[in-house]
Amino acid sequence: MSPSTSIHGMWSTRLAFILAASGSAVGLGNVWRFPYTAGEYGGGAFVLVYLLCVACIGIPIMMAEVMIGRRGRQSPINTMRTLASQEGKTPAWSLLGWMGILCAFLILSFYSVIAGWTLAYMVRAGAGVFTGIDAAASDALFNAFVGNAEALLAWHTIFMVLTVLVVARGVASGLEQAVRWMMPALFVLLLVMVAYAALNGDLGGALRYLFQPDFAELGDKAGAAILSAMGQAFFSLSLGMGAIMIYGSYLKSDASIAQNTIIIAAMDTLVALLAGLAIFPIVFAHGLEPAAGPGLVFKTLPIAFGEMPGGSFFGALFFLLLVFAAWTSSISLLEPIVAYLVENRGFSRVRASVLSGTGAWLLGIACLLSLNAWSEYTLLGKGVLDLFDFLTANILLPLGGILIAVFAGWVLPRRASVDELGMGEGLGYRLWRLLVRYVAPLAVAVVLLNALGVLPAIGQV
Ligand code: PHE
Repeated sequence: MSPSTSIHGMWSTRLAFILAASGSAVGLGNVWRFPYTAGEYGGGAFVLVYLLCVACIGIPIMMAEVMIGRRGRQSPINTMRTLASQEGKTPAWSLLGWMGILCAFLILSFYSVIAGWTLAYMVRAGAGVFTGIDAAASDALFNAFVGNAEALLAWHTIFMVLTVLVVARGVASGLEQAVRWMMPALFVLLLVMVAYAALNGDLGGALRYLFQPDFAELGDKAGAAILSAMGQAFFSLSLGMGAIMIYGSYLKSDASIAQNTIIIAAMDTLVALLAGLAIFPIVFAHGLEPAAGPGLVFKTLPIAFGEMPGGSFFGALFFLLLVFAAWTSSISLLEPIVAYLVENRGFSRVRASVLSGTGAWLLGIACLLSLNAWSEYTLLGKGVLDLFDFLTANILLPLGGILIAVFAGWVLPRRASVDELGMGEGLGYRLWRLLVRYVAPLAVAVVLLNALGVLPAIGQV
């Protein structure tokens, strides 16, 4: 039998879980990473592959991850070890939890740096820095900002402290309250931005760009595009590293995993598409480059805020909400590490949070230096920040996803998943099992092998 509660606490209601998990999912991945990655691969074809990945790989794996978490009700490392031993399988399954911890450190380190950009841009918007700014000036402003290591360090530090503060206080009291209104507010403000972009930018161009797939455009970049779309799906849904697993472990036993997962994935996808619709009309109307890379959001939106009436206010509010979205994601990155330190090392929550936050903060310094002082040090053509991003989103999270799918579909007996998912054994369940046993692991494996150049077919990274 699986335990019915976790020693770390529980979500008070089903809604609290939905809010927390979508708080984890919705973040910089949607508003910062999705638009510029889509832009790097020419739009529509990437978006289509992305949507397919969310539906056929993301949703079934998210269900599996929540299910495993709820059955184990411990940190991912201990959950994997316990569940595997219960089935008479090797405790080495706990390595999945360890890989998740590695991912958590790597992601949090660069995530906090980018979240720091958001904090800085909130202040700049509020101070009216963007008033009347044109594309060239916005570009220059951004480049000067990322060239300034001290400024990046200051904002990175502030964001990491914010993250540690919430995690140290415990998830249920701090975060549950905050996400309750922050998520809806971000959503409304995104709609305002889309409306603004539609009225003042090139909405038609943006719609064609995002929703008219042109596979010819990908050319020999198809392999890289598919890998990135899949990686983006894992990153955006917070899958493959234990964040969703630990959140599942705080979910009450009677909540429907399938229903909640679909709601969370749908919200996450909607926010990403809305972000695209807020950004690309401005990109096209101002003759900007969709493939501008990680600076895309930070270069385009200030132009819109600089033009619109009340732009300083709306701009500051928008970046504030983005900070919140990043915040609710970053705490879910720290939580699996903290849960492990509390369970296995006897640390207090506070000590565990401070220690792990400090580790990620130190790694973050390497990330931010890679944008300026260390920019000439590269591996595979990437600086530290880009390398961490690529390694986690495109390689480690999908790898974790395969293992989660295999564990849920092959290692856990059918009985266990029928019980835990509680959706009967009808069509829905059979579809899930098919996806999680065959489709998801095989699809992810093929994409990864292709990217490594093992398969000759679709063009390499
Ligand atoms: N899903 C978050 C985002 O889109 C990032 C994240 C990845 C959070 C992995 C937790 C785990 O911003």
